[in-house]
Amino acid sequence: MASLLLIPKIIMSLYDRTRNRSTSAPVAPADDLAKPVSLPSAPAQPVSDLQFNPDGLISEEVLKGLPENLKIRPLSRSDYDKGFVETLSQLTTVGNLTREVFDERFAKLQKYNEVYFSIAIEDVSIGKVVALGTIFIEDKFIHEAGSVGHIEDIVVNDCARGKNLGRIVIEALKYIGQRRGAYKTLLACSEKNIGFYNKCGMSQKEVVMSVYY
Ligand SMILES: CC(C)(COP(=O)(O)OP(=O)(O)OC[C@H]1O[C@@H](n2cnc3c(N)ncnc32)[C@H](O)[C@@H]1OP(=O)(O)O)[C@@H](O)C(=O)NCCC(=O)NCCS
Repeated sequence: MASLLLIPKIIMSLYDRTRNRSTSAPVAPADDLAKPVSLPSAPAQPVSDLQFNPDGLISEEVLKGLPENLKIRPLSRSDYDKGFVETLSQLTTVGNLTREVFDERFAKLQKYNEVYFSIAIEDVSIGKVVALGTIFIEDKFIHEAGSVGHIEDIVVNDCARGKNLGRIVIEALKYIGQRRGAYKTLLACSEKNIGFYNKCGMSQKEVVMSVYY
């Protein structure tokens, strides 16, 4: 009887051990670049205020290249209070993004944290988010069930432009795409930004078609 009572405890302890393992993966060395990172098979439980678990997904090269006052990391729930809307508004119309709407959308992106990866650069000396970008991963049937990365919503606050932050955001997102196993990463941009993306090692291919609702 006593041993029967122990069974749930044993199961819980095994479950805890598995969870702890998945949240403390070591940061991958640079020569591991080509190997996709293995992510938990079930959607991870949100463990913090970060949109995704950064372990092994933030490029060491990118981290090394940033000055002391700038930190690159997953988007955080607290970024709403750090000028998130102001910076994003410099890309396009954001609309009435209340705290409540932001929290709801953030929770959804956190739930799909194997698919969506939103990053931010914060200038910690002023507590402000100065650059943003997202990559999402499309898992396909073609190319031997390959994956394609899609970069979206790139913006650098005009107070921080011309300091290489745009390129750093793109490099960070390209790295995530590669680590997540994508065989290519795509984005759509206006003519005036083609030169910028060329400088980020991307080239023009095919055309983008769209329909608006
Ligand atoms: C486009 C944008 C992200 C660039 O960010 P940034 O931090 O100012 O750019 P960087 O300093 O990283 O520039 C990297 C290189 O690209 C060049 N560059 C930057 N913007 C460029 C542009 N529009 N056209 C051509 N080259 C550009 C820079 O001169 C630099 O070149 P260098 O290495 O020879 O010095 C920024 O201007 C922005 O947020 N614009 C408004 C929103 C937007 O258009 N986003 C893109 C949506 S697709």
